[in-house]
Amino acid sequence: MTEAETQALQPTLRDYERKAYDLLSPDRAAYFFGGAADERTLDANQSAFSDIELLPRMLRDVRGGSTRTTLLDQTMAHPIILAPVAYQKLVHPEGEAAMALGAAAQDTVMTLSAQSSVDAGAARTAGPSCTWFQLYWTAQREAVMALVQRMADLGFTAIVLTVDAPVQGVRDRETRTGFGLPADISAVNLAGMPMPRFAPLEPGESILFDRIAHVSPRWADVEWLCQNSPLPVILKGIVHPDDARQAIEAGASGIIVSNHGGRILDTVPATITLLPAIVKASDGAVPVLMDGGVRRGTDVLKALALGASAVLVGRLAIAGLTVAGSAGVSHVLRLLRDELEVAMMLTGCRSVADTTPDILRRQTVSDAKD
Ligand SMILES: Cc1cc2nc3c(=O)[nH]c(=O)nc-3n(C[C@H](O)[C@H](O)[C@H](O)COP(=O)(O)O)c2cc1C
Repeated sequence: MTEAETQALQPTLRDYERKAYDLLSPDRAAYFFGGAADERTLDANQSAFSDIELLPRMLRDVRGGSTRTTLLDQTMAHPIILAPVAYQKLVHPEGEAAMALGAAAQDTVMTLSAQSSVDAGAARTAGPSCTWFQLYWTAQREAVMALVQRMADLGFTAIVLTVDAPVQGVRDRETRTGFGLPADISAVNLAGMPMPRFAPLEPGESILFDRIAHVSPRWADVEWLCQNSPLPVILKGIVHPDDARQAIEAGASGIIVSNHGGRILDTVPATITLLPAIVKASDGAVPVLMDGGVRRGTDVLKALALGASAVLVGRLAIAGLTVAGSAGVSHVLRLLRDELEVAMMLTGCRSVADTTPDILRRQTVSDAKD
């Protein structure tokens, strides 16, 4: 049997990534697997996990252990959630519906992107564990609330407000490959939403500071949303401890430490290195989640050990969707969970609560806290 045939029978997590990259056209591969500018943050998200070393503990009693996790009153089989990723029909004809089915098969939460290419109701019908809806602020509060209410009526249980992308990052790889959305793929859940219309620029004006900044969200908008939303609001894209404190004051029900997978501002540090300071600043007031660079069960374990309540995965799930649709998503999630279980057993952790920093080498823990 050739190596390729063996891989087809027993794909590993790395095989999914490689295969997905090969299957996609260069511009779509750039969109899904590229990052901003020189891709330093994209690379750092993964390499920072490798720099943290595990220090296994022997002979501990792990009988009856499990990866079970409770988050915002919801119990899940494991702490691996699907991150919001836009326009999934670009990699698979069923797009977010297939992603939702794969998530449901592995009993995990899927976060539907505001820029989903599938209707939110259809995604929830395909996979009822698609229960978090990600939101980008649009200029008008009434329009935001109408969208949030629609999602609440559809049975979504939380809103994930992404705050790190008031403008798109500088995407060299996409520019070079000429990425653009085809006419038949769009953000269908935003159809009919009032979009800001900008007056022509006067000489000396900037599109960013004199137009887009006027319709971008500010802390007062977050407070208003948290106070008025029928669903709990989780803030995604927090990387500074002071912002974490402000998010909690504003009424957020959770925080996702994220640099958008290195797609927005290049040279932001790897999220796993930022996590401990944000966990400390949050002081147990709300759950702190993280994403960026999670590719292995050991990565999940390290994030939990450094205080994350759960992790989100973006590109890895996209790799599963690209290669084998819902079955691929489900398989990727299962492989990741299996790897987490192996890593927990080998480090003597019976439960998510057991995953404390003493399973990490002290040197790397203090580095990560700097
Ligand atoms: C192609 C692509 C599209 C994304 N679209 C969104 C989005 O619509 N909303 C959002 O909040 N984050 C979006 N993200 C960021 C992810 O939610 C997540 O933060 C990131 O992918 C995590 O890093 P990872 O891919 O290394 O797991 C996107 C990421 C990728 C790769």
